[in-house]
Amino acid sequence: MDVFNKISELLAEIESSSPSDAQSLETFRIRFLGTKNVIKPLFAEMRNVSSDKKKEFGQALNHLKTSAEERYNLLKKEVQLKSTQDEVSNMDLTLPVDSGFTGSRHPVSIVMNRMINIFEKIGFVVEEEREIEDDWHNFSAMNTPDDHPARDMQDTFYLKDSEKFLLRTHTSSVQARVMTNQKPPIRIIAPGRVYRNETISARSHCQFHQVEGLYIDKDVSFADMKQTLLYFAREMYGPDTKIRLRPSYFPFTEPSAEMDVWMGTDTETTKRLTKGTGWLEVLGCGMVDPNVLTNCGIDPEVYTGYAFGIGIERTAMQKYNISDIRLLFENDVRFLQQFSAVI
Ligand code: PHE
Repeated sequence: MDVFNKISELLAEIESSSPSDAQSLETFRIRFLGTKNVIKPLFAEMRNVSSDKKKEFGQALNHLKTSAEERYNLLKKEVQLKSTQDEVSNMDLTLPVDSGFTGSRHPVSIVMNRMINIFEKIGFVVEEEREIEDDWHNFSAMNTPDDHPARDMQDTFYLKDSEKFLLRTHTSSVQARVMTNQKPPIRIIAPGRVYRNETISARSHCQFHQVEGLYIDKDVSFADMKQTLLYFAREMYGPDTKIRLRPSYFPFTEPSAEMDVWMGTDTETTKRLTKGTGWLEVLGCGMVDPNVLTNCGIDPEVYTGYAFGIGIERTAMQKYNISDIRLLFENDVRFLQQFSAVI
């Protein structure tokens, strides 16, 4: 057969073929563009073509080749479009949506927000401050001067090569900052992260969170503090909750106390948590020491106040029955997802 005829025949075939799926498109590609395609052998025919026709033949062959490529690219787009359309029309739009995992609050945040909420209801205002503190606000102002033995109660991370700057060991440093900047009446809570140089174990960590409270005004009494803490305990642990205050010691309060709530010994968990006593220690508190007021520029002859500090992790562990404090800092999603239903 005349090679020119062969070219026109193939050209016609290329233009008329319209594969409708990926498989017939691939057959088209192999036939016209694959390594053993039908156009290739025609190039060898060049030597049989008379010299006056060689140019025309070459052009016709090239045209055939580019036509095959262009047609293939066009068809490929069409086939792709068709397959997405098929996919859409095959979708079951009545299927319920896969809601996925939308994240959850961390148990420390849940408990902290709850505490903030409880105190805000009775007029306490949130104050936040720096985590890198100076020695004065963390210790000296809080009646814990350099040589005070109570400094050993809170093992401190000092900044490298510094005797002055440290990671705050309690949010009492916020109390010191507020007292030096504001005039009474002061009624604040200071939630935040604190650090202590302690060996990490199931029960203690080198970082944890506190909510501290401070109330300073004229005629603030120990009875006021007790009533506020009873209100807090009943909001947090239930309306019939009983509390007790045990004498304690903090350098910045006098008198000082620790508050326990009654958990009972009915279950294995409450027995373990309360070490068999039925009482769970939840916070430290006391009347602000007059020295602290003086240090911060408030006249202790005119004003009195109370302060308290609550550990968040301990409360979260008790509330959600978490046996190891380290779980609260590892951010393992398998642990955190369990709180997705809590707001
Ligand atoms: N700052 C104390 C602590 O971190 C807690 C506390 C605060 C105690 C206020 C009494 C009054 O242990």
